[in-house]
Amino acid sequence: MYNRSDIQKQKLIYQQALASQLITAVIILNDQLRIVYVNPAAEALLIKSLYRLYGTTTELIFANTSINAKRLQQLLNTGQEFTDSDVVITLNKSHRFTAELTASPVEFENSPHVLLELKQIDHQKQISLEVFQQQQWIAGRDLIKGLAHEIKNPLGGLRGAAQLLSKEIGIEQQEYTSMIIEQADRLTNLVDRLLGPNQLPQIHAQNIHSVLEKVCQLVDYSHDTSVNLKRDYDPSIPLVECDHEKLQQALLNIVNNAIQAIDKENSITLKTRIASNITINGKRVKLAVEISIIDDGPGIPSKIQDTLFYPMVSGRSNGTGLGLSIAQTLINQHHGKLSCHSQPGHTEFMIVLPLKQPASKDINTREEK
Ligand SMILES: Nc1ncnc2c1ncn2[C@@H]1O[C@H](COP(=O)(O)OP(=O)(O)OP(=O)(O)O)[C@@H](O)[C@H]1O
Ligand SMILES: [Mg+2]
Repeated sequence: MYNRSDIQKQKLIYQQALASQLITAVIILNDQLRIVYVNPAAEALLIKSLYRLYGTTTELIFANTSINAKRLQQLLNTGQEFTDSDVVITLNKSHRFTAELTASPVEFENSPHVLLELKQIDHQKQISLEVFQQQQWIAGRDLIKGLAHEIKNPLGGLRGAAQLLSKEIGIEQQEYTSMIIEQADRLTNLVDRLLGPNQLPQIHAQNIHSVLEKVCQLVDYSHDTSVNLKRDYDPSIPLVECDHEKLQQALLNIVNNAIQAIDKENSITLKTRIASNITINGKRVKLAVEISIIDDGPGIPSKIQDTLFYPMVSGRSNGTGLGLSIAQTLINQHHGKLSCHSQPGHTEFMIVLPLKQPASKDINTREEK
């Protein structure tokens, strides 16, 4: 027979060990709503040890969130637990995360306490956001493609008819038919850009830095004023399977935007890194290259940040708003991902490309969908 107090002791040992093994961050507050315990996961999440946190309130941790002393006190009074799924915790400028928080009442030594369980959810959130954005982008692209086709066909007829007409009329009226032809050509050009790249990529193993250097060269040739381009390359990156012309085009569109946004004193940094075991548009990839184009200019206007990659979204008075949408199509053709984080003084576009492309059969099936 087991002794009851032995079992009790054993239970305590397991409970203590469990709290320190949990991935969920656990914080315990006493009836004065002061921290009396945090497990190692909470210490890691809050980047502070139990000794630093002991006896403090949670005010700073949960500043500007839905969790406040009033709600916690109510929980102590009523015993009613609650869960908040999107608590954005900002500990300092560089440490910000989203967590799911459950607060429940517990009793220790006959005194009511509050048990807070925090689970960081940024990663899952990011993945589902990416999948959602990808689906939205495909739906938008299909709609525009359908529309562009419908516009393009009659445009050809319109142009042909104007050409025929110009042969039948006098020289002074030809001004009008020339205008029709000119505008039809302008529209055809726009529609062609809207339809996006229409050829499948020609995939070869490439040195990613040669592609980037080519972009730098083109930038040098095509801009009168010199652009301060910095390199932060990881020379150990192996060859990457890609279509170098398409990748170059995507990079140029992004770099040109940065050049248009920045001033003389600003700079653009091209950075490369290797990444392992990451998720691209919901799919797991073993090895990938991350190419970042970073500038210290004014940042992307906040009103277009959410729709930045949609066609015809522009913050410039003379922009067509197609550069980034085309860049995204090109990167998607490589089964990669294009994302952007921007705030004044730091705008970063990141291209993530798998080192190896799926077999060409898969590429064709995807494109045909
Ligand atoms: N690095 C950047 N800094 C600030 N704003 C940017 C940056 N990159 C893009 N933008 C903003 O995003 C908008 C959309 O860019 P996009 O390349 O799609 O179109 P565009 O440059 O306006 O026109 P297009 O490239 O078709 O000539 C730009 O108009 C600009 O307002
Ligand atoms: Mg552009």
